[in-house]
Amino acid sequence: MNKIGVLTSGGDSPSMNAAIRSVTRYAIYKGLTVEGIQRGYEGLIHGESLALNRRSVGGIIHRGGTHLRTSRSEEFMTKEGRLKGYNWLVQNHIDALVVIGGNGSMKGAEKLSEMGLPTVTIPGTIDNDMAGTQYTLGYDTAVNTVLEAVNRIRDTAVSHDRVAIIEVMGRHAGFIALESGLSCGAEIVLIPEKKMSMEEVSHHLEASHKQWKKNSIIITAEGAVSGAEVLQYMKAHHPEMNPSLTVLGYLQRGGAPSARDAKMASLFGQKAVEYLLSGGTGAVVGLIHDNIVATPYEEAGQFQFGIDENEYELVHALGM
Ligand code: F6P
Repeated sequence: MNKIGVLTSGGDSPSMNAAIRSVTRYAIYKGLTVEGIQRGYEGLIHGESLALNRRSVGGIIHRGGTHLRTSRSEEFMTKEGRLKGYNWLVQNHIDALVVIGGNGSMKGAEKLSEMGLPTVTIPGTIDNDMAGTQYTLGYDTAVNTVLEAVNRIRDTAVSHDRVAIIEVMGRHAGFIALESGLSCGAEIVLIPEKKMSMEEVSHHLEASHKQWKKNSIIITAEGAVSGAEVLQYMKAHHPEMNPSLTVLGYLQRGGAPSARDAKMASLFGQKAVEYLLSGGTGAVVGLIHDNIVATPYEEAGQFQFGIDENEYELVHALGM
């Protein structure tokens, strides 16, 4: 193996740049050359790339977003599109590919492996919802961004005796909502993994407000129920609680990576390069029970981690 490619794909997430830096510098440290592919699979199909050296990835470890830019490529979901990408890699003597991205990106990498091009996926999404790992790059930074935002919003909720509703990202998963909810002391956390009706929300708030609580925080994951729906219900049934809504949106995707994210990105990058050097042809790097491992794509489904039931119960027990 002489040359590897690296690309970022899907939604950007903080510490993707730290992962690009680690893959590039560790590969060079091991005697390889590195080609950076721009704009994810879309850029791969169109041959958008640049040679990376140690200096190319200087000064990016602390930057959010992705230096190589990213995309969600419809064309790569087609066989013809994947063949274009595969042929470009072969014609440019790229022996293996490191993909930094989420679930969809990992599926694309798996397809390339099946076509005979070795790939390894580094889990990069704020959602923390990927098979083969208990931790995805960007998740810790996103949770801390939500925590800081909620604590600011809480000042107004306390000063005005309000119920503040905050909608967070997570596509189909409630990890960001649950971890930020527990960390900020939210009274209610709505996540897709657990059904809670608006009536139950109502009863929970009535009970705590009967015990002289004057303000509350409701964190809702976008995949559970929209903040707008919660606000509409609260305005109709509890106008006296002065409900407000903040949708955090893309704030959660940007910003300088936390120490944990930047460190994990560096370790995941090293693991990805070592996996390819060992002759690996298709795996996802991940953190499983405190170990950094590479799990073959076909086995990753056995390591799909859900929300922590105790954390869900605890946030509501403490929120009264
Ligand atoms: O997958 C990461 C994520 O931020 C999700 O949490 C969110 O639902 C989605 O991407 C938004 O996608 P887009 O960036 O295409 O609007």
